[in-house]
Amino acid sequence: MRTVAPPILAATPDAIAAAGRLLAEGRLVAFPTETVYGLGADANCDRAVAAIFAAKGRPRFNPLIVHVAEANEVEALVVVDERARRLMERFWPGPLTLVLPRLADSPVSLLASAGLDSLAVRQPDHAVARALIAAAGRPLAAPSANRSGRVSPTTAGHVAECLGDRVAMILDGGPCRVGVESTVLDLTGDRPLLLRPGGVAVEDLAAALGEIPATPKASKTLKSPGMMESHYAPGLPVRLDARAPRPGEALLAFGPVAEGAALNLSPTGDLEEAAANLFAMLRALDRPDFTGIAVAPIPRHGLGQAINDRLRRAAAPRPEDCR
Ligand code: TXA
Ligand code: MG
Repeated sequence: MRTVAPPILAATPDAIAAAGRLLAEGRLVAFPTETVYGLGADANCDRAVAAIFAAKGRPRFNPLIVHVAEANEVEALVVVDERARRLMERFWPGPLTLVLPRLADSPVSLLASAGLDSLAVRQPDHAVARALIAAAGRPLAAPSANRSGRVSPTTAGHVAECLGDRVAMILDGGPCRVGVESTVLDLTGDRPLLLRPGGVAVEDLAAALGEIPATPKASKTLKSPGMMESHYAPGLPVRLDARAPRPGEALLAFGPVAEGAALNLSPTGDLEEAAANLFAMLRALDRPDFTGIAVAPIPRHGLGQAINDRLRRAAAPRPEDCR
């Protein structure tokens, strides 16, 4: 039997420099961001970007986010209008991804855009992520470092569990602070379009934009191919808005009253704490001694919107090929 020792390295300056060299050679490196761990590759290299899709088992029609160390680096990749500039100033570095028109001479691999004429860009708010991008000397395409459709990783150990044999290195920067992925906002049209709620609350985005972003009808337009219904799914079935566990179920609670809870996202009812705990707790309860995961109701304001979005997808009917 072949056992693969996952190459997890503490994110020291030497390890970051070595990871940067691996990326420049076209290899895959998993790294921490403030949201979730990313599976990084040289965004300008077709072969490296193709390796991301293969490692994740990700459909080729689902485009990737390109990460930069400094905000002004996106000027060489996409068209940055006044609106985008304002949001970058307000929220970058941070968990906001902007979908903008691709520059005709953008060096980023067309595979990263999955054939669209737009490109998603973000500047992560994590010292290791930004040092790594700088060390690689090129933008990094990076989806969440999980198998496609499954729960996103918020620790280096999570990455090792699902992709440990597919990456050249995993940089360990500890648990992710935010815990849910970035908010994805499409600015290619007249009206800003919220493609994915995430680490920047929609209320804050609306205040900065001066308007509430529209939300696409996912099934009709599939404007963001990543917005497929079943996603973020643990192995066990997930039941939402549960007040109490049914026999065999593990209750994932929220707030102070939690009779019979297996785990609690936030005993004090803090949505930021709940977001940071969400994926790790879903993984921890995904065990054969339970028959399902029952999740308590979560408020819908602030980060609650992103949490409810991930939970709804975790509970959605799953296509055969996802199991
Ligand atoms: O927090 C995050 O965003 C993490 C960390 C690693 O940065 N990354 C992440 O990537 O969540 P991923 O690939 O798991 O999700 C990217 C989302 C998908 O829903 C994808 O469809 C959408 O962004 N997306 C990427 N490029 C797009 C584009 N050009 N147009 C529309 N949607 C796009
Ligand atoms: Mg993902």
